[in-house]
Amino acid sequence: MAELRLQKVLAAAGIDSRRKCEELIVAGVVRVNRKVVDELPAFVDPEKDVITVHGKRIQAARKVYFLLNKPKGVICTNRDPQGRKKAIDLIHTSERIFCVGRLDVGTTGIIILSNDSELANKLTHPRYGLAKTYVVGIKGQITGEQIEKLKKGIWLAEGKTGRASAKILKRGHKESLIEVTIRQGLNRQVRRMLAKVGLPVKSLKRTRIGKLDARGLGVGKFRPLTKTEVAYLNKTTQVQRSAHNV
Ligand code: URA
Repeated sequence: MAELRLQKVLAAAGIDSRRKCEELIVAGVVRVNRKVVDELPAFVDPEKDVITVHGKRIQAARKVYFLLNKPKGVICTNRDPQGRKKAIDLIHTSERIFCVGRLDVGTTGIIILSNDSELANKLTHPRYGLAKTYVVGIKGQITGEQIEKLKKGIWLAEGKTGRASAKILKRGHKESLIEVTIRQGLNRQVRRMLAKVGLPVKSLKRTRIGKLDARGLGVGKFRPLTKTEVAYLNKTTQVQRSAHNV
């Protein structure tokens, strides 16, 4: 296991916030393998090191991973001054979890929640290019030309988006459905890409994250990821993709 910052390990074990844990460390009440550690930065291996706070050994947080089928109106941040329903409220666990990446409040579909910040950072880093697939409801019709533009990449404020997959699932006069796969996770990326090619989004649903999908998972429901799925996610973050634009 990699060495982690001591305050992060304490916070993950439920001692207090990272800031408060830093204060505890500096106050000299934290020991690692019996020695007082009162200077920062300090790094530990929570699987090997014996860490105590006020003489009491901390319990390393168990790593947990869930897949949620997020309903509309639910937010992906852990704090909301407006008091809206949060994705973490839909998961029954005693661990301090957070959303891995984000779906907008109006977007539905699958999202991973976990307390494993190391894996979360990698999964959301564009370097690893994990594919995310969305089914998008569009107002009106869509042309082949618009699909081609989406595939080639769209200029957004951050730069040009990478190559995407895009295909028409249903052509209608009033409404069309398309499927888009992207490998980055810029803020409101799909909505902004579609706006740039003149397509107003009526609905947005994430249907796949890499190999994971919503099969058997009703809206608002969650399930733990299997060991195989967690191993798969760890493996995908070992393979770095090159040639990324954004
Ligand atoms: N792209 C968006 O525009 N919104 C999401 O929620 C996810 C991807």
